[in-house]
Amino acid sequence: MTIYFVDGLFMEKEEVTISIDDRGYYFGDGVYEVMKVYDGELFTSVEHLSRLFQSAAKIKMTIPYTETQLVDIAKELVKVNSIKTGHVYIQVTRGAAPRQHHFCEPATTPIVTAYAIQNPRPESKLQQGVGIKSVEDVRWLRCDIKSLNLLGNVLAKEEAHENGCFEALLHRGETVTEGSSSNMFGVKDGTVYSHPADTLILNGITRQVVLDLCKDNGIPVKEIAFTLEEAFEMDEFFLTSTTSEVMPVTTIDNRPVGTGVPGPITLTLQQAFISKIPLSVAGDK
Ligand SMILES: Cc1ncc(COP(=O)(O)O)c(C=O)c1O
Repeated sequence: MTIYFVDGLFMEKEEVTISIDDRGYYFGDGVYEVMKVYDGELFTSVEHLSRLFQSAAKIKMTIPYTETQLVDIAKELVKVNSIKTGHVYIQVTRGAAPRQHHFCEPATTPIVTAYAIQNPRPESKLQQGVGIKSVEDVRWLRCDIKSLNLLGNVLAKEEAHENGCFEALLHRGETVTEGSSSNMFGVKDGTVYSHPADTLILNGITRQVVLDLCKDNGIPVKEIAFTLEEAFEMDEFFLTSTTSEVMPVTTIDNRPVGTGVPGPITLTLQQAFISKIPLSVAGDK
């Protein structure tokens, strides 16, 4: 039995009904967050919920709860669903109204839905690394908003998946931006490179944790854009996300990165990240 949170109520998944007129359904008109749960505890929930409110403000939507109330809802979902290692998904849509593009007057009440799910850490991939595939970034120009409009991301991930790759390496023309659901990092001559946190990427919470870890570990960082050609020439490459943590990338378009195995700076950051998470024993419990 899985308990969901829907529009103010906790209920079994089978009981959930959503209006056909929900603007999330018609337009992807809403925002969302994914927060990791380690050992039954939310990880970086303050940062995720603050980004949720920022995303909502950027699409002129008011969330009908406070950050504290949303944390309490997330904690309750973790508890009632007995989640140890997994994640909480929260989305807020603008609400239900007969289909028309502009907002409704008076404004519709946004609908909050959420669930918690068991999801083990991808341990073997974290050890061995993954392959990624370059895909043209055809998304809109407000990728800083964690919006439900994910078709560009979905199609890129599908292309990577069809080619046996874990993730898409998105590039606008020559410029590498991010992954379809992750941030991308290259390492060259001991310096970590990452696209700046502007409107062309989502400023990942894991990305921000990792940039702090670089500082803590004396690893130089340059938040500047690099090209696809430069990506192939990096000594090391890795991606970050809530569910992928610090994931080594060993091939790009089937070409080995550096020596073709997870590199030393990547592994240092991966270890530093693991030491931050409240995990007494690695792996799903
Ligand atoms: C497009 C995109 N970039 C980056 C990320 C990584 O963000 P976070 O580390 O907050 O999970 C995500 C996560 O879903 C994403 O969808």
